[in-house]
Amino acid sequence: MKKPFLCLGIETSCDETSAAIVRDGQTILSDVTVSQIDLHKVFGGVVPEIACRAHIETILPVIDKAFKNAKVKPQELTAVAVTNRPGLIGALLVGISAAKTIAWVLDKPIIGINHVHAHIYANHLFEQSGRAPGQPAGRPRFLPGPAFPYLGLIVSGGHTSLYWVKSPLQYKLLGRTLDDAAGEAFDKVSHIIGLGYPGGPAIEKAARKGNPAAIKFPRGLVGTGYDFSFSGIKTAVLYYCKGQNAARKTPLKKGINIADVAASFQETAVDTLVERVIGLAKAKKARAIALGGGVAANQRLRDKLAQASARLDIPLYLPFKELCLDNGAMVAGLAYHYWENGEVDNLFLDGSSQGDK
Ligand code: KG4
Ligand code: ZN
Repeated sequence: MKKPFLCLGIETSCDETSAAIVRDGQTILSDVTVSQIDLHKVFGGVVPEIACRAHIETILPVIDKAFKNAKVKPQELTAVAVTNRPGLIGALLVGISAAKTIAWVLDKPIIGINHVHAHIYANHLFEQSGRAPGQPAGRPRFLPGPAFPYLGLIVSGGHTSLYWVKSPLQYKLLGRTLDDAAGEAFDKVSHIIGLGYPGGPAIEKAARKGNPAAIKFPRGLVGTGYDFSFSGIKTAVLYYCKGQNAARKTPLKKGINIADVAASFQETAVDTLVERVIGLAKAKKARAIALGGGVAANQRLRDKLAQASARLDIPLYLPFKELCLDNGAMVAGLAYHYWENGEVDNLFLDGSSQGDK
């Protein structure tokens, strides 16, 4: 019998310290994530220096727990994978140093992983229970992930990118945000209307009580290729809530209905994303659409994309919410394909704040 490929995946690119063990690029045996949200909340966003220090404090217990939960011994590993780009460079280096140390001590291969590709790859993972991301109703369990080639949309705090995915190792960047990422827009708008950090879940919650058609905010870059822009809508919200040319610290105008602002902003952001994705999936005859990144946890986006893709009869894959956020499982899963292809790194592996151009 073929020996299973057991991979430890480490993720420290931003504000989540995560380690996971995944078998054969598919089955999650453990996935342990410690979020730093509470540390950054008071500052209204991620503070890189605080993130690095917190990763240093948390990384070893998180890795330890990943082994324990998976009931796997370190010697049983086949390889160690780590996110090495893009991300906050100091934060990445904590994970890379931990991965290198483990790989060196155990004499195992090390594999550096692109964080954004890993987010897309989350759609190919399963839990041991059989729960898999994005299975449309009525489909069998253990669906083998989206069929290639498919369209991948990554929407997070740092990225809003559309990829043409030909295989687990081939990702072509088709479009991306020219300014703010979608998650960044949720975070900034939340700050403007006083809902705190992280903005995505706060806006989503407030929006449930609001009218999505109450305010018409402008959509960025309509009909101009496949790039995105979210800074215009953020400024439109600022001026609507605080007055023309107002500064962020200016107090809200009297009578502003926060729930309506949240719902109308969310609707505009979601419609912008859905329009681009569906247009491109149609034009490229994608065999599937797959989402990833923190904003993919947004229920309104999930619902609207599900309706639109069903109309086109294109299967839609949506990772379950924990797998939308940063996690080690997506890193360990993708590493399997590099290993199978003979593409492993060595102890000179470096980090980079840059991803695909
Ligand atoms: O992928 P992620 O965990 O980290 C990055 O790589 O950035 O994404 C975090 C982002 C934050 O901007 C957060 O506000 C947003 O994802 N987010 C959401 C939701 N949950 C998290 N945005 C909209 N709706 C949500 N439910
Ligand atoms: Zn991420």
